[in-house]
Amino acid sequence: MTTSKHPHLIDLNDYPVSWWKEVVDLGEKIKNNPEVYSGACHNKIMATLFYEPSTRTQMSFQTAMLRLGGRLIGFDNPANSSVSKGETLKDTTKIVSNYADILVMRHPVAGAAKAAALSADCPVINAGDSGHLHPTQTLTDLLTLKCEKGRLDHLTIGLCGDLINGRTVHSLIKAMTCFEGNQFILISTPELKLPSYVKDILTASGWEVASLEEVLPELDVLYMTRIQQERFASREAYLAQKDTYILTVKKLKAAKPDMIILHPLPRVDEIEVAVDEDPRAMYFNQARYGMYVRMALIITMLDLNKKDNPTILLRGTTVKGAACKNPNCITCSESYLPKSFLELGNGLLECEYCNERLLLER
Ligand code: NCD
Repeated sequence: MTTSKHPHLIDLNDYPVSWWKEVVDLGEKIKNNPEVYSGACHNKIMATLFYEPSTRTQMSFQTAMLRLGGRLIGFDNPANSSVSKGETLKDTTKIVSNYADILVMRHPVAGAAKAAALSADCPVINAGDSGHLHPTQTLTDLLTLKCEKGRLDHLTIGLCGDLINGRTVHSLIKAMTCFEGNQFILISTPELKLPSYVKDILTASGWEVASLEEVLPELDVLYMTRIQQERFASREAYLAQKDTYILTVKKLKAAKPDMIILHPLPRVDEIEVAVDEDPRAMYFNQARYGMYVRMALIITMLDLNKKDNPTILLRGTTVKGAACKNPNCITCSESYLPKSFLELGNGLLECEYCNERLLLER
């Protein structure tokens, strides 16, 4: 077992549901009375290390810290840092976490935030690791649902689009299955289906369909996603999927009057612009909720960091002869990392960084 003396947010499910609720409740309080919290992070410095493009996540984290009275360092283009000279993730993290009190990282490789946490001397927050997880978008979604639907349970949620690469969808499903009575309708093509480590969580509460029109009337929440061009192997493969699902004003006529439409954004063309005028379109408000919930998260993490409360980063074992086969796993690009697997039985292993599975050859 490998632990860290700092708290980290790599995956929401590393914390109990009661903890998420506390963060979301604090986010709501901050939203209603932001001035009360304006000095909560006075003298604290947050580093934002964005190895991948971002508008909302990066700027909402930065605004959150500034609104709490804290300050910022960081980069949004690794080409301008020593990463371009070949510095390892370990060394960059080690250095920056000696300057800052809290580190927010987005990375194009799965498991990067966990790898960073292994060497960080301050708390690390995962702001998205490849197509894997995006826990702070889920906190955003939870606050939006709480404020706009009044509940986190007994919701029929349609998830539409790029479910294989959509890290926001993965983290959202992992979270929403923890609340009673939620049902999930997966609207995607066979090529864009959920990866198995997320699909397995759904069991009886989720089913798959191919058509948006067919299920719209049943939904309480429609979660639209972008087809993530940058994660496709070729342009042809992307073009074959592009434009499969487009939400239009006309289609929306079949939806419930109190359904809400969420989208982590950016939108490409999966939601017709005219839909923005519909009161059910909640995606721009959702982005604002993200700032409040990130303010709550920063306060919570810095508070937790004052306590002596080691976090477990790796629970599994180094299995002799086993290496993760996912070419986009951080253990492939940062070879010094200790490999670590959870044994699922019958020779099936799950990489603890990217959650990909592999069968151990005997
Ligand atoms: C998403 C992301 O980066 O995963 N956006 C976000 O963080 N709000 C979705 C996307 O890139 O399509």
